[in-house]
Amino acid sequence: MDIAVIGATGVVGKQCLELLDSGALAGLGRVVPVASAGSAGRDLAAEYGLSLKVDEVVALDDFDPSGLDLAIFSAGAPISRELGPVVAAAGALVVDNSSAFRMDDDIPLVVPQVNPQTMATRPARGIASVPNCSTIQLVRALHPLRALGELERLIVATYQAASGGGLRGLDELAATSRAILDRAQSTGPSAGASGRFGQPLAFSLVPEIGLRDDDGISHEEHKLRREPRKILGLPGLRVAATAVRVPVVNGHAEAVHVTFDRPVDARDALDVLRAAPGLRIYGADDGYPMPRQVCASPESSALVHVGRVRADPDDPCSLLLWVVADNLVVGAALTALEIARLAAESSWA
Ligand SMILES: NC(=O)c1ccc[n+]([C@@H]2O[C@H](COP(=O)([O-])OP(=O)(O)OC[C@H]3O[C@@H](n4cnc5c(N)ncnc54)[C@H](OP(=O)(O)O)[C@@H]3O)[C@@H](O)[C@H]2O)c1
Repeated sequence: MDIAVIGATGVVGKQCLELLDSGALAGLGRVVPVASAGSAGRDLAAEYGLSLKVDEVVALDDFDPSGLDLAIFSAGAPISRELGPVVAAAGALVVDNSSAFRMDDDIPLVVPQVNPQTMATRPARGIASVPNCSTIQLVRALHPLRALGELERLIVATYQAASGGGLRGLDELAATSRAILDRAQSTGPSAGASGRFGQPLAFSLVPEIGLRDDDGISHEEHKLRREPRKILGLPGLRVAATAVRVPVVNGHAEAVHVTFDRPVDARDALDVLRAAPGLRIYGADDGYPMPRQVCASPESSALVHVGRVRADPDDPCSLLLWVVADNLVVGAALTALEIARLAAESSWA
């Protein structure tokens, strides 16, 4: 399989190459990394310490998609929108990590552990979308619970890491944290740069991710409403979300309140979750998942971690959960490669 990784020098692109290096995709042929003109010629295998054979970075303007089987896009929605259809028309399956096509009716929005059937036939436009990072871990934790009853209502608050803001976000958090620790800046309300997150993030948090609409709902919160409905096939699912950026380097966490169409038992929920693939479940005696521990090893980063599963004492139809996952792995690169794997294993590939 000859593939291109568009956005290969970013945090998701790097993760993608590292997963390919560890054998995430069988039958790998040529690997073409693509980025901006400023990155052209970089040797990412050497930079990232990979044994995988990777071409030199190609500038987007010089990228020729002919002959490729797969293109994983992680360079932002405008580039996906412009180039995705061109690359698909050249014959490659496009797996897109951006928000460009997610809500298009004729583009599958795929979480392989939840709706693999969406890849049973080749996507009509040759493009499959990877959901938003926060959506993926949310639906992977909730889908198995549908064995207990149908989901009616979600109330979710996210605690999203700086790596969700890409390399710039990580650099900004590191630089401003260092400056505050070195007392070069105070921790007062205006301390630190506010470029990537709208507000200074170090030693604080920002309760808004993406632009707000006229009703005060942010882009990220709309993604958390719309994407689970499409993936779970529940157009009437009611979702109230608050998306918060926190000064965690990597790993998104979510506090989830879920209401079912019938009474549910927290012990039954734990049993069902324990039987589901791809989850690590923390019972009452197992502590709880936290971003640093979750992202500490490749094995752990590949799972969705669910803890603090408990009944809502005021509502027999509701449960509360704490869900943590590596936003670069589960939330983007690994899910993209799992979608590619679904395609490779299908009869139409
Ligand atoms: N970070 C996450 O947790 C996460 C999770 C899910 C989905 N995503 C999505 O994945 C995509 C990438 O995010 P990221 O966090 O990896 O961002 P990032 O670290 O900022 O990386 C962006 C990548 O895009 C390339 N790029 C930017 N502008 C370009 C241009 N004009 N022409 C060619 N290449 C260009 C950059 O190349 P240069 O280095 O040469 O500038 C870099 O390789 C976004 O669509 C994002 O929404 C991110």
